[in-house]
Amino acid sequence: MIRICPSILNANFDDLPGEIEKVAATADLIHLDVMDNIFVPNFTFSPERTREIIDFSALPIDVHLMVAEVDKKVGQYCSNNAVSITVHYEACEDPLQTLKEIRALGKRSGLAIKPNTRIEVVEELIHEIDMIVVMTVEPGFGGQSFMASLMPKVEKARHYLEQRNLEDVWLQIDGGISLSTIEIARRAGADTFVAGSAVYKSDNPGNMVEQLRLLASNC
Ligand code: DX5
Ligand code: ZN
Repeated sequence: MIRICPSILNANFDDLPGEIEKVAATADLIHLDVMDNIFVPNFTFSPERTREIIDFSALPIDVHLMVAEVDKKVGQYCSNNAVSITVHYEACEDPLQTLKEIRALGKRSGLAIKPNTRIEVVEELIHEIDMIVVMTVEPGFGGQSFMASLMPKVEKARHYLEQRNLEDVWLQIDGGISLSTIEIARRAGADTFVAGSAVYKSDNPGNMVEQLRLLASNC
């Protein structure tokens, strides 16, 4: 199963319902990048605004929290229409407990690692993770270049999952996914893809999602 999750980070924030509508027929989830200007040098949405967007979205939401000291804040960013909540390993004091809390909220638990964080940190937490997120850009901004050199991390994450028959765990790539990079990411073992600027800078976001899905499905 291939999942395409358009990130609205580079969409028109003044018309998010309309921007989400553009991909509602072809995308699986909307990827909502929440930034607090502490964990990353950028701000996007408050907890209240995050919940508002989740609730009016025409598609279920994949929440990506780029929020410092996230352990005690996860619940503030959660609302009904959220499918999964991803926290950063680097922002957690107790990642195991935080992942358990996300599941206790009834959501899929996501764990994201930054480019310089070793994939090995995932292994001991793997039974509390429903989605591994390998960042292929430095978190904070859309439109950066895909770091193809990180594919060995994706391959290793895929190996962890296969070793343990964890077929229901998703392996997401976040950052720089486009028509020219999605096949590399798929071949490394990813099955879930965030695409921000590739989708929203195209003249037909809905169709771009379809093209990305086709490439990932046929390689
Ligand atoms: C970056 C975000 C990504 C970003 C993806 O911190 O986590 O989701 O919006 O945007 P592109 O696809 O343009 O790299
Ligand atoms: Zn993201």
